[in-house]
Amino acid sequence: MKYGFFDDLNREYVITNPQTPYPWINYLGSQEFFSLISNTAGGYSFYKDARLRRITRYRYNNVPLDLGGGKYYYINDGEEVWSPGWAPVKKDLDNYECRHGMGYTKILGELNGIKTSITYFVPLNTNAEVHKVVINNKSNVEKNIKLFSFVEWCLWNALDDMTNFQRNYNTGEVEVEDSVIYHKTEYKERRNHYAFFSVNAPIYGFDSDRESFMGTYNGFHNPDAVFKGEPTNSIADGWHPIASHCLEINLKPGETKELVFLLGYIENDPDDKWEGKNIINKKKAKEMIQTFSTIEAVDRALDDLADYWDQLLSKYILDSHDDKLNRMVNIWNQYQCMVTFNLSRSASYFESGIGRGMGFRDSNQDILGFVHQVPDRARERIIDLASTQLEDGGAYHQYQPLTKKGNNEIGGNFNDDPLWLILSTVSYIKETGDYSILDVMTPYDNDESKSKPLSDHLKRSFDHVLNNLGPHGLPLIGRADWNDCLNLNCFSSEPGESFQTTTSKDGRVAESVMIAGMFCYIGEEYARLMEKVGNKEEANRAFAEVRKMREVIMEHGWDGSWFVRAYDDFGRKVGSHENEEGKIFIESQGLCIMGRCGLEDGRAIQALDAVEERLATKYGLVLLNPAYTKYYIEYGEISTYPAGYKENAGIFCHNNAWIMAAEAIVGRGDKAFDYYTRIAPAYTEERSEIHRMEPYVYSQMIAGKDASRFGEAKNSWLTGTASWNFVAISQYILGIKPDFDGLIVDPSIPKGWDGYTVTRQYRGDTYRITVKNPNHVSCGVSKITVDNKEISGNILPLFGDGKLHEVEVILG
Ligand code: BGC
Ligand code: NOJ
Repeated sequence: MKYGFFDDLNREYVITNPQTPYPWINYLGSQEFFSLISNTAGGYSFYKDARLRRITRYRYNNVPLDLGGGKYYYINDGEEVWSPGWAPVKKDLDNYECRHGMGYTKILGELNGIKTSITYFVPLNTNAEVHKVVINNKSNVEKNIKLFSFVEWCLWNALDDMTNFQRNYNTGEVEVEDSVIYHKTEYKERRNHYAFFSVNAPIYGFDSDRESFMGTYNGFHNPDAVFKGEPTNSIADGWHPIASHCLEINLKPGETKELVFLLGYIENDPDDKWEGKNIINKKKAKEMIQTFSTIEAVDRALDDLADYWDQLLSKYILDSHDDKLNRMVNIWNQYQCMVTFNLSRSASYFESGIGRGMGFRDSNQDILGFVHQVPDRARERIIDLASTQLEDGGAYHQYQPLTKKGNNEIGGNFNDDPLWLILSTVSYIKETGDYSILDVMTPYDNDESKSKPLSDHLKRSFDHVLNNLGPHGLPLIGRADWNDCLNLNCFSSEPGESFQTTTSKDGRVAESVMIAGMFCYIGEEYARLMEKVGNKEEANRAFAEVRKMREVIMEHGWDGSWFVRAYDDFGRKVGSHENEEGKIFIESQGLCIMGRCGLEDGRAIQALDAVEERLATKYGLVLLNPAYTKYYIEYGEISTYPAGYKENAGIFCHNNAWIMAAEAIVGRGDKAFDYYTRIAPAYTEERSEIHRMEPYVYSQMIAGKDASRFGEAKNSWLTGTASWNFVAISQYILGIKPDFDGLIVDPSIPKGWDGYTVTRQYRGDTYRITVKNPNHVSCGVSKITVDNKEISGNILPLFGDGKLHEVEVILG
């Protein structure tokens, strides 16, 4: 069942039924001011940090869903009260539509002949959200309506706001001047900032105190002021400050009126000494209001935003026979990658914005998905990440976005972390050809006195694995590798009776075959990089270590039919036929094959066949099988989840992409693409009532076959799934792969395809690559011509002339 449709021309998903199975959201903002907005106008805004600079309030696990707060509008048309976004009044509308687009959301509601559309967006380079409101009288009688706006302020620190009521119910302060409601709580002492909500028209009245607006025992759906048609002109004094304008609007038959509301945030200049003066400096707010005082200015800002997205999405454009695939590759997957770049794992309808900082491994992997869109910002991010690395090559697992400092509470010892830094750096260099990043002096642990060139950081990342090998010569897992819930280090000597902790610092002897596979894959990239920069000795050393690791994997990491996942702290296999549960895990199959283990002797194929037999379901590949049904203290959190959820045999969409890549590597394009379509959101659209999450973005997890809610997704938007699935489809399946010396063309596609075209902007040139498949094979390039001249090999030459180059690729 569907709840809307894709409008590919406008790059929008159009929701036509407000009662989606879960709130389907979008993100506004691309620099410092961000908002989440659902299809019924729920959500909130923040500046830079979702925890410390929360602008509007949101209650996460509220009843009913998504009435946690929002940017609501109400219309009292004399007969009825309703909301153009359906919620919060939830009055049935004659027409409803929500268009989630690139950085904007347009919600349209119509009742009693009054059509109202509200376009929400954050203009480029602006710390504000614009609401463009257009009201049209479609009837043939004159209408006199009252329009109410509504936002509820958060008292800045989102965690404190929802916990420290004894204080916070006394701190709220506002000011109202003309049509602007200012939120200035704490402006005197703590902070040199404020927020405001304005409209570019005279108002009939306002409210800034929630209780006066709503009534003590009412909710968002039935505020007193709206139902009476009379605002109370309240000035909040403590309790719950809000901002609500009331406008009287007269509409002749056929008449349209347009309004601009602006929700802005102002951070005063540090030398602007307004603190302590009992007034706020409104200058910057007034300037901002002036900038967006006309519809023309707002429309220009919308055009600028559209240009910005045109440009970001012009780097990789696919033209294939499959609309679903085109929309995933060209629009939604790349859009989601940019959102993960902006938000990391901080604020979604599953991440409360107060929990996590930026993850070291997460942020490095995110780079793979957006480096082609914003290479300069990727470069900056890589240096920020490397600056939190520790001198021994390990890394803080997380850092705070405001301070960019490593998080001491969580610490490090996740032994996969350092390798991801090599991968992100290599992918940046392959995209841009900019080797100078390797020379950037980059501190360890944010200590400038401990700065070394970035290349030194990569070396220490590589060596961190070698310096932490276990009894079988495999890498020690530390607190956990990519799988945060596989916690194998325990403190007592008896299996089953051990005291297990996820914070073990000394990393005992548990070993990870997954990190070993990563080392082969990413370590080889490191070796190739060293070769490119002319450091032969280091390259040879690295190649040799990788070769050695492959041998160790084939000796101790092979279980007979697939790769073992790990060795626990007692030296016993995890993810082996010897285990009663959790016999096979997905991660080591994907990464060992990406690390080119078992390619020559058939073992890679054997492992992938085992994946198909044991892990594949119609909704994607589960993480392990059979699911754990008991708690194993020596495995940790993974066995605490009910069977079929999250890391315990859920369909973890992130690592499905590694299997797609592995299938592509062994040349089985049909299987690679089949797995791709099982989880790609556009292909789940038809079963939205089962999948439940947005059909335009990936979710982290879909409940696996052991779960009663098999096929139901959770945790949409902020997941490494976005970047890895983009890599799988764009580089491994469609096979357009940036490399050190140019673009490699190496498709691995379903045999049935006749071909496709990818237009790729790369290092200043544009390549229009037409792949033809006359013999219906999956892979293997028989001929490539560039600008009508045949080339040898499959690396497209670099021209550096800024021109369009026509490439024809014949498979077979
Ligand atoms: C989740 C993991 C996540 C981790 C982050 C765990 O509870 O299952 O998916 O990576 O928390 O700390
Ligand atoms: C989500 C975390 O953000 C990521 O770092 C981790 O790799 C996966 N969960 C798997 O546990």
